This record gives sequence, C-alpha cells and structure tokens, in this order.
Amino acid sequence: MGNDKILILDDEQIVIDAITKNLSRRNYEIYSGKNGKEGLALYHDVNPILIILDLRMPVMDGVEFLRKINLSPSDSCSVVVLTGHGSDEEMERCFELGISAFLRKPFNIYELLGIVSHSIALKKVEQELRSYRDHLEELVEKSTGELQATNDMLQKEIVERTNAEKLATRSLRDKEVLLREIHHRVKNNLQIVSSLLDLQTKYIKDPETLDMFKDSQNRLKTMALLHEKLYQSDNMAEIDFAKYLTNLLDHLYRSYCIDTSCILMTTDIDKATIGLDTAVPCGLIVNELVSNSLKHAFKGRQGGQLNVYLHKLDDGRFKLTVSDTGVGLPDGIDLKNSKTLGLRLVNALVIEQLEGTLEFDTNNGTSFWIVFRELKYTTRGTKDGR
Ligand SMILES: Nc1ncnc2c1ncn2[C@@H]1O[C@H](COP(=O)(O)OP(=O)(O)O)[C@@H](O)[C@H]1O
Ligand SMILES: [Mg+2]
Repeated sequence: MGNDKILILDDEQIVIDAITKNLSRRNYEIYSGKNGKEGLALYHDVNPILIILDLRMPVMDGVEFLRKINLSPSDSCSVVVLTGHGSDEEMERCFELGISAFLRKPFNIYELLGIVSHSIALKKVEQELRSYRDHLEELVEKSTGELQATNDMLQKEIVERTNAEKLATRSLRDKEVLLREIHHRVKNNLQIVSSLLDLQTKYIKDPETLDMFKDSQNRLKTMALLHEKLYQSDNMAEIDFAKYLTNLLDHLYRSYCIDTSCILMTTDIDKATIGLDTAVPCGLIVNELVSNSLKHAFKGRQGGQLNVYLHKLDDGRFKLTVSDTGVGLPDGIDLKNSKTLGLRLVNALVIEQLEGTLEFDTNNGTSFWIVFRELKYTTRGTKDGR
C-alpha cells in the first residue's frame, strides 16, 4: 500500500507550500491545485483520501467544487475546509455538502496536522467497517444461498420419498387385493370339487363308499374354510384360529346331523393367530379326530361328551386335545399302519407336517393329545428339497 494521498486546493501558493512542507515530512503524498477546476481533474486522477479546500478561489470556488464532487458518506475521501472568510451560513452549507472539518486562516499548522491525521484515521476506520459489513453481507448471502440449496434438496428428497412411499403402498395394496382374490378362488374351487363329489354320491348305493365320499368332502371343506377365513382377515398371512375351529366344529356337527343334545361338546380354545402352513395340517387333524368321535364313539349309546381344547403352552408350543367319552378305539390299533385313511392321515400330519408329538389313550373313551410348534414360513421347495 502506498502513502496516503492528500489534495490541497488553494489559490495562494504560499499556503500550498507551507502545508506541503509540513505534510511531506509525515509521509503523505501531496497533490495541489489553484482552483476548483484543477481540483476536479486531480480529484478524479489521484483519488485522494483527503482534500484541504480553500473556499475563495478564481475559476471555480470551493463550494462549487464540493457540489461537483458530490460527496457521500460512502466515498473514500473526506474534505477539510481551510478559509480566511466563511460566514456561518457558508460553513453550514459546506457541512451539508459533506465536509468533515472547518478551519479558519490564519491557521495553526499543528492544529491542521491534527485534523488531517484525525480525518484520515476516521475515514480508514469507516472504510474498514464498510468493507467488513459488505463482507458480512456477502457471507450472509452465501450462507442463505447454501441453506436455500440444502432446503431445496431436502424438499426434493421429501417429494421423492413420498412418491416412493405412495408407489410402495399402492403396490402392496394391489398385492393384497390379488392375494385376497387367490384365496377366494381357491376356496371356490375347493367348493366346486366338493359339489362335484356331492353330485357323484347320487349314483352310489354302497354305504361304505358313500362314507368315504363324505369324509373327502369334509376334508375339502376344512381347507376351503381356511381360505375363506384368510380372505376375510385383515392380515392375510395368519388366521384367527379360535374362530376357525369354532366354525369347523359347527360344520362337522351339521354335516353328521348330530343331535347336539345327545353329544355335548365342550371347547376351550386359546386366542391365537396361526399361519397357513400350520393351520392346514392342524385343521385336517381336528377334522379327522372330531369326525371319528361323532361317527364312531357313540355308536349304540345314548350320547356322551366330546371335548376339543387348544392351549398355548409356556414354551410357545400348542397342545391340541380331542377326547370323547365313547366306546374307545378298537384293540391293537396302530396309527402308523392303520388300514383306514383317517388315523393314518392324523399320524402323518402330526409327525411329518407339524413335526409334533402324538399321544392317545383309549381306556375311558378316546383321547388324543398333540403337541406342536407353529411352523415358520419357509420358501417353497426348501423344506424337503422339492
Ligand atoms: N373316537 C373313536 N371312537 C371309537 N372308535 C374310533 C374312534 N376313532 C376311530 N375309531 C375307530 O377307528 C377306525 C379307524 O378310523 P379312521 O382311520 O378314521 O377310519 P374311518 O373313520 O374312515 O373308519 C374307525 O373305523 C373306528 O372303528
Ligand atoms: Mg375317520
């Protein structure tokens, strides 16, 4: 940075010389002119930090000069007026035009030096403050810009996420509708097969064959009911098993035209939701065991009691009990090698499908106890390598 530049405008050379001599010693760079006109040219050329201005000058006086340079507080230059004349009005006019100090001739050089250095220091502080403020404004503007950009980005991301969420929800809803439709159709198709079997029974005279057809129809109904419960439920992966079993038992009673006052049924079924993989074998087991009790247990008797319990054990497993107070199973029955389908099916469903345990007692009527755990969903084909 060079020395501070000072412009002296005075029509008296002696004044210019005196001031120049004193200021040069203090490392100021001095320029001078004899009137306002010269002053204007120098002012634009030199760009001084301070002007020492005489008022009475030929060609263009000090006031005219001030009017021409049109000082504003943000200018990098301040003006000190140094005059031998100057009324109060003139002084006031000069301050209106932006000067910072007024000194009368004859002047004390030290007083002038003080005013000069003071004015220059003040101007520098002013300028520093101004540039600091500009810098701050720039910083604020930049930060605001950055914030705006971040905000825009966030807004964009929110829109994208909302759209993705909408899409996912719609896709999920579509899949739910489809799944519900599939369960509905499976149930309808099972019902059609059941009706076809029913039509066929019209041509069957042999009571044993008729019985087999009825058993098959009940097995179909057991599965159809499951799909019906699934498409009626909110959550299509699981069904309210208590509700399902109640419906199934109801159907079996009606199917075997049992007089409910003769065979008294007690049920105690814990609230549980069970997935389809577990519910299918479990439903089929209940169907077989309850059908057997209704069909065989009270043959030749006035009636009796039938109990169906499903309890959730502390370890998370389920215990299914089907018992009756009937005549009991024939001697030497072997579930695994039973010649009849029903009991063999029960054994296979418990051991192979549910991977559970099966116990029965036939001393006082017939009781079956089955303990199993809910099967966790496995992808098709992984369980047994199919
Ligand atoms: N709860 C029961 N009470 C008495 N006898 C039963 C009971 N359950 C099964 N049985 C006897 O065991 C036999 C085998 O039953 P199952 O395999 O279901 O064949 P099905 O019911 O077709 O006869 C039945 O024929 C019946 O004699
Ligand atoms: Mg049977």
